[in-house]
Amino acid sequence: MKRKWGILLGLLCIQICWVRGVKVEQSPSVLSLQEGANSTLWCNFSDIVSSVQWFQQNPEGSLISLVFIASGTKQNEKLSSTVNSKERYSTLHITASQLEDAATYLCAAE
Ligand SMILES: *[C@@H]1O[C@H](CO)[C@@H](O)[C@H](O)[C@H]1NC(C)=O
Ligand SMILES: *[C@@H]1O[C@H](CO)[C@@H](O)[C@H](O)[C@H]1NC(C)=O
Repeated sequence: MKRKWGILLGLLCIQICWVRGVKVEQSPSVLSLQEGANSTLWCNFSDIVSSVQWFQQNPEGSLISLVFIASGTKQNEKLSSTVNSKERYSTLHITASQLEDAATYLCAAE
């Protein structure tokens, strides 16, 4: 029997925040998923960025660096991250979300 977990992925910068003068828009602001679903988080930037770092903040509050990416795509078993500096966005794709993925995700750019 498949348990239905509601997985909440919140994003810290819910609307718009500024990182070193670059305006960053994260979307979606809050996402509710079923166990096993894939999900993609976006960060859109107002300016060209040279690198992006994605973090996960777990419920205890600690910040974990997930990936640092300067261009192209980086992938591990579960996460795939892309940066498109020309179109000024980065995505974090989470494959087969599980309860332990419930967290706040944020991106930082420079
Ligand atoms: C972010 O950029 C992507 C690709 O250009 C676009 O499809 C998406 O709508 C943008 N999201 C926001 C919130 O502006
Ligand atoms: C989730 O993503 C993985 C890898 O990108 C893909 O193989 C799989 O078909 C996707 N599953 C769904 C439900 O979209």
